[in-house]
Parts: sequence; C-alpha cells; structure tokens
Amino acid sequence: MTPLLCSAPAKLNLALEIRGLLPGGYHELDTVFTWLELEDLLEVQPAARTELVLRDEIARGARVLADEENLVMRALRSLEDQVGRELPTRLHLVKRIPAGGGLGGGSADAAAALLGVARAHRLPLSRGDLLRLAARLGADVAFGLDGGTARGQGRGEILSPLPPPPDLPVILLIPPFPLSTPEVYQSWDRLPDAARRPGRGSVERVVSALPSGRAEDLLEAVGNDLEPAAEALRPELSELRAKMLQAGCSVARLCGSGSTLFGLLGSNGDPAPVAARLEGLGQVLCTRFRRSPR
Ligand code: C5P
Repeated sequence: MTPLLCSAPAKLNLALEIRGLLPGGYHELDTVFTWLELEDLLEVQPAARTELVLRDEIARGARVLADEENLVMRALRSLEDQVGRELPTRLHLVKRIPAGGGLGGGSADAAAALLGVARAHRLPLSRGDLLRLAARLGADVAFGLDGGTARGQGRGEILSPLPPPPDLPVILLIPPFPLSTPEVYQSWDRLPDAARRPGRGSVERVVSALPSGRAEDLLEAVGNDLEPAAEALRPELSELRAKMLQAGCSVARLCGSGSTLFGLLGSNGDPAPVAARLEGLGQVLCTRFRRSPR
C-alpha cells in the first residue's frame, strides 16, 4: 500500500477572548481559528512495527523530538486504546511549522495522525469518536480535523464553521524565543483586571466581518486577550509588534499564546518589502490564509 499523505496546516487565531475559568485549570475560550498555507506533512503507512521518523525543516527555534511525547505518537496510542489493539504504523513527519510559536503545529500533526491512521487501518470510528479523541489530545486538535475557518468555544473544541477570510498575505515573525502555552495562560491569571481583555469584542467583530469578504473589515476586527499575558513574560513582544506596524503591516497581533506574531496587509499590500524590513528581528515567513477546509 502506498503511504497516505496528510496535510497538517498551521492555524492562527483571528480573534481570541478568554471568558473565564473551567474546572481543571483550563480557560474558557471564544476564538476564531483559521488555517494557513504553512503546513507540516505526515505520511502514514501500516507497517510491521511502529516508528516515527522526523524530517526537521524548521529553519530556527525550538526542536521537536520523535519520541512517545510527540503528539503524533500520542494520537496513534489513543487510537490503539480506542480499538483495543496495536496499530503498527510507519509515520514520517516533515516539520515546517515552528514549535512553541502558537501556530498549533503539534495539534495539527495530532489531527493529521488521527485521520491518517484511522483511514490507513480502516478503523470503524465515527466522527464523534475522532472528535472525542482529538479534544483529549489538546484544545486545538479538534479544529485540525476539518480546519478551514471556525469559531471555537469551550476549551476551543466546540466548533462552528465560518466563511473563510479574504485571500490576504500573512507575514509571520517568529522571535528567537518560544513561549510555553501553560505559562502564558498562568501569566493571564496574574494580570490586573484592567489589562485582561484587550481583545474584547474581537470574536463578534471577526464573525461579522468574514461574510463581507472585505479585508478592511477584518483588519479592524482582529484581537487577542493573551497578548498582554505574553508581553508580561516577554516585553520585547510589544516592541516587535510596533516594529511590524512601522514596517508596513496594517495590523500586528500575537498568534494564539505566542511567541509568533502575525501581520496583515490591506488587499493590495505587497508583503515582500515589509518582510525585508523585518529581517534580523526573528525568522520571517510569508504565507496566506488557506481558504478551504480539509
Ligand atoms: O490543550 P493544550 O495542550 O493545547 O493546552 C496546553 C495548556 O494551555 C493547558 O495545559 C492549559 O494550561 C493551557 N490552556 C488553557 N485553556 C485553554 C487551552 C489551553 O488554560 N483553553
């Protein structure tokens, strides 16, 4: 059997609001996810024994290990638990999404592994089974099953599809330091009330802006409540955001829990000169929104 090739696109949060605390220490979110063209690739092939081979194409920054902790392996093990037998599989992961960046790379890999392994071994699992396993692997994994553009509520796993954003260039600035997701959420817990909700209303604004397809509506809408929490841990982030605006981005925001920042330009914007002005501040990637779901 030829290997199954599964795409694992990065995501960004066009809007992210924290609504409160959930039992178990998680935060109740209201967010709008959207897929990017930037992707990891996972090849899945039933084999005599399980192995995960990693080809690391990440230019700089945090590395990912091909061990049992890798979310691809954890996805495989969760499927084995679900069906009650071993599923020996050769998994080959081409890693391009920077880790520790808030771009959801690990979650995307886990979603691709759930879909790929279930298909390669023809497992009789329902959509609901996969969603349940996804939600247990991480808050963003359920979004990676269908992708596209969706509102995420609860921990981010209660999904409703939305129209795609306009076809815009996206500039990613990956600073030379990663951030840990739990540490950013803990930093949010320590913020004074007045600093807590800079993204207030961003979800409703983005949800209203998407159907028009107008870039200008979207640019005004984006926001992220985790920005001050990440900036409290790494004050350089607010300077980097200011530099993205000076370089010509119409808007610059934190991706998820960071440390990656994303910049958007108006519909006629040329990303190349803007990206060139950011060289030296971190790794700069130019990508676009991926406008269709899986
Ligand atoms: O689910 P995931 O592995 O992505 O989450 C990593 C950590 O981020 C969690 O252990 C939790 O500390 C924090 N988190 C949260 N609320 C969310 C998502 C993540 O507090 N909705």
